[in-house]
Amino acid sequence: MRKKAAVWLSLALGFGMALSGCSSNSVSDDAKQGNQKAGEKLEIFSWWTGAGEEDGLKALIKLFQEKYPDIEIENAAVAGGAGTNAKAVLASRMQGDDPPSTFQVHGGAELNEGWVAAGKMEPLNDLYEQEGWMDKFPKALIDMVSKDGNIYSVPVNIHRGNVLWYNKKVFADNGLQPPKTFDEFFQVADQLKAKGVTPLALGDKEPWTATHLFETVLLGTLGADGYKKLWTGELSFDDPKVKQAAETFKKMLGYINEDHSSRNWQDAAQLVAEGKAAMYVMGDWAKGYFVNDLQLNVNEDFGYVPTPNTDGKFMVITDTFGLPKGVKNPDDVKKFLALLGSVEGQDAFNPLKGSIPARIDADPSKYDEYGKQTMEDFKNAELAPSLAHGSAAPEGFVTKVNQAINIFVTQKDVNSFIGTLVSAAAELKK
Ligand code: GAL
Repeated sequence: MRKKAAVWLSLALGFGMALSGCSSNSVSDDAKQGNQKAGEKLEIFSWWTGAGEEDGLKALIKLFQEKYPDIEIENAAVAGGAGTNAKAVLASRMQGDDPPSTFQVHGGAELNEGWVAAGKMEPLNDLYEQEGWMDKFPKALIDMVSKDGNIYSVPVNIHRGNVLWYNKKVFADNGLQPPKTFDEFFQVADQLKAKGVTPLALGDKEPWTATHLFETVLLGTLGADGYKKLWTGELSFDDPKVKQAAETFKKMLGYINEDHSSRNWQDAAQLVAEGKAAMYVMGDWAKGYFVNDLQLNVNEDFGYVPTPNTDGKFMVITDTFGLPKGVKNPDDVKKFLALLGSVEGQDAFNPLKGSIPARIDADPSKYDEYGKQTMEDFKNAELAPSLAHGSAAPEGFVTKVNQAINIFVTQKDVNSFIGTLVSAAAELKK
């Protein structure tokens, strides 16, 4: 485990150093001397900047400032969807013993096989006891932020990854129903294409968006059980079903906008908002973007269904925050985490973010139709961990898949793609 974590960290770091130009020289003088300064800033590190991303965090910070006016907050967000740039910057800071006070990290492998295995996080069991949280978060979620009996972070939300968003007017004008299966998807896509409408929006300037689309195809093809077996090693990436998923994914790529590689996730969502594309597969942070930034109305301007073949399945993404070892203001961090894990904190954050609360006792009346339905769906669905968003496999593997996907989107070579996945998975087992 330790060896794996070290390998992972060095992989993440190689990239981080290149990207941020940081080195371990970036350790602050205070950190080197172990100084405890009074009035230390509470630095909150995430990738939530800009349209569709930051409103929830800002609401949470405002709430914190009202409660603790004496604690200065620094919103240290690094732009780039799914942590494209932030994760690399974080890795170099952690390596340089210069951790932020708290940072965004996905529950699952990204936390447990990454920072926890590397010995970089403080357990938060006491905080959970103190706040009475053990029965306030679903057990499945507590498990995602726990390792070897200790709990290491606090989930602020649950995002659903397997959502197909569609432009209501485009569908109505063309007499179409949102697709439930892959066959229906391709029938609808052909009809849209014939009418000159781009069937499916993609913005893979940052390759994770294509990985995101692919994982929903994997879930729809393998089912939740089969999909989960990929991460336990019980199912190989050269299983015929994985190949079938890659073929379906390839076929879908025949229906995307031509300028996909110059768009980010928001730019691709805009195509659907403007009716230039009809459908979009993206996590429900897209709903936050549609509603808060583009001023669209749920179920009027845009609709949503589970991605093909994933009705009753829920691709879980959870954003969590923890307490890194060695921070100078652990008590202030715990105050922030306590707020983030409270009903009040979650109900300030999630209606703006597009996610549902991680807590089971939040107030549904604060959420729109989409949010209410998603809360219900979460209770009843088969849950599956997202690969693109760090839960299913360690960061080093996710990076390799993103690279392989990026090549696949242009070359569309299924065998070579499968081969790369198989060898990346073999590394994972070592
Ligand atoms: C995910 C994250 C979401 C959202 C999205 C796009 O990884 O969990 O909260 O920010 O990336 O950046």
